[in-house]
Amino acid sequence: MAGKLIVFLCVIVISQGVDIGSLKLDQVLILSRHNVRTPLMDTLEKYTPKQWPKWNDTSGMLTEKGALLEGYMGKYIYDWLDNEGFMEGCPEQKDVLIYANTKARTIDTAQAFVDSAFKNCNITVRHLDDLTVFDPIFFPIVHNTTEVFRNKISEEMTALIKKMNLTESYTELQKILQIQDADICKSLYLCDLNAAQTEVVLEVGEEPNVSGPLFIGNAIVDSFIMSYYEGMPLEDVAWGLINTTEQWELMAKISKENQNLRFNLTSGAKDIAGPLIKYMFNIFEDKSPKFSMLVGHDSNLNSVISALEFKPFELPEQFEPFPIGGKLVFQKFVDSTNQYLKIEYVYPSTNQLRNAEVLCLAHPPKRVVLELKGCKTDSNGFCLWSDFMKLNVY
Ligand SMILES: *[C@@H]1O[C@H](CO)[C@@H](O)[C@H](O)[C@H]1NC(C)=O
Ligand SMILES: *[C@@H]1O[C@H](CO)[C@@H](O)[C@H](O)[C@H]1NC(C)=O
Ligand SMILES: *[C@@H]1O[C@H](CO)[C@@H](O)[C@H](O)[C@H]1NC(C)=O
Ligand SMILES: *[C@@H]1O[C@H](CO)[C@@H](O)[C@H](O)[C@H]1NC(C)=O
Ligand SMILES: *[C@@H]1O[C@H](CO)[C@@H](O)[C@H](O)[C@H]1NC(C)=O
Ligand SMILES: *[C@@H]1O[C@H](CO)[C@@H](O)[C@H](O)[C@H]1NC(C)=O
Ligand SMILES: *[C@@H]1O[C@H](CO)[C@@H](O)[C@H](O)[C@H]1NC(C)=O
Repeated sequence: MAGKLIVFLCVIVISQGVDIGSLKLDQVLILSRHNVRTPLMDTLEKYTPKQWPKWNDTSGMLTEKGALLEGYMGKYIYDWLDNEGFMEGCPEQKDVLIYANTKARTIDTAQAFVDSAFKNCNITVRHLDDLTVFDPIFFPIVHNTTEVFRNKISEEMTALIKKMNLTESYTELQKILQIQDADICKSLYLCDLNAAQTEVVLEVGEEPNVSGPLFIGNAIVDSFIMSYYEGMPLEDVAWGLINTTEQWELMAKISKENQNLRFNLTSGAKDIAGPLIKYMFNIFEDKSPKFSMLVGHDSNLNSVISALEFKPFELPEQFEPFPIGGKLVFQKFVDSTNQYLKIEYVYPSTNQLRNAEVLCLAHPPKRVVLELKGCKTDSNGFCLWSDFMKLNVY
């Protein structure tokens, strides 16, 4: 008797009054990054005397494997929704919004998700008609064009450059590249990334950007990471020269700093992510559609997370700060008296990507509960929906 009573009390204390059993999933909004693509930069020859692996497509396109992997995510998400009693069979188009940026990789990712999650359901992927321009909802640019604002962002980025230390990462990277035998060294005299300076690049109507070693390093590491996810033989992933977790961490640190410096900005993220966050809160306020997925880029997830002020978090079993195919899943739960928010980062692990592991409820992608500074979360990851809605300052 005493034992049972204690267990019962524990449940009450842990859940702080939220009776999980009676909660019902009511609305879901996913902010997703596209899946595995070809490297963004296809002019990497000058950085190494070695041959780069061949890709079947031009730069920045979703690969066939990327579409397959996104299908696995789609199937998993549908199984989860079905298991929650949220959805059954084919949803109606009015209950579902699948909305992608105008890049081929985001549209193709959204289509791969739909083809698997809502197979034969006639759910259409929405995007702007003009595919030659970045959709303004997803475009992570600085919108405030005043010089004062620009200077504030520039100062913050400059301070972050001063603070960052990529010495070990660059040393390891240029060893792998054999940079002293590359054109960049022989004809352009850039033989040591540690001897060059990363600079802030801020142009009106463009993404916050950097030039110099961080830009170069990030483009090269992106190519390594994508070839690893794509499942290329290890001799085609950084020429077989990355064989330890420590080395991957050194490489990933370059991607992390690139993202951190450009989009995780106290002074800028609210401006940069403004249109996207406004769009998201409109969906929450309308209580419709029931299920939405917005497919963009790592810069979108990063700036939204920064602008809404999440507590720091770790994503185990991943190299990337905002993993490929990863999804920020906003979940509204209701019971008879209240409404709650839970946010999880749902993403495939590096092994799940490389091995093309089929995902299901028994073999799920990684799920990490995130917390907002402005929405006090209980130990089960729930915070009050009304507190969350107060964060809508747009
Ligand atoms: C390129 O396409 C061929 C044929 O479809 C396929 O066998 C191969 O795996 C692809 N390679 C890459 C790197 O995607
Ligand atoms: C599919 O949906 C579109 C509108 O979303 C509709 O015009 C079309 O008739 C539907 N097709 C089928 C086969 O139901
Ligand atoms: C742009 O930034 C400046 C400086 O921070 C600020 O005073 C101004 O209100 C901003 N404009 C808009 C439209 O947000
Ligand atoms: C950067 O980190 C390395 C260790 O990785 C350390 O030896 C070096 O002193 C650091 N440089 C600065 C400027 O802090
Ligand atoms: C960022 O700057 C680099 C180097 O200056 C340039 O090549 C690249 O196109 C820029 N990227 C974006 C997204 O503006
Ligand atoms: C990694 O593998 C390569 C050959 O594939 C080998 O030459 C190198 O010594 C290995 N490095 C480490 C740290 O094991
Ligand atoms: C964003 O910056 C904050 C500090 O301003 C830091 O605590 C957080 O870890 C950064 N987020 C990521 C994903 O790097």
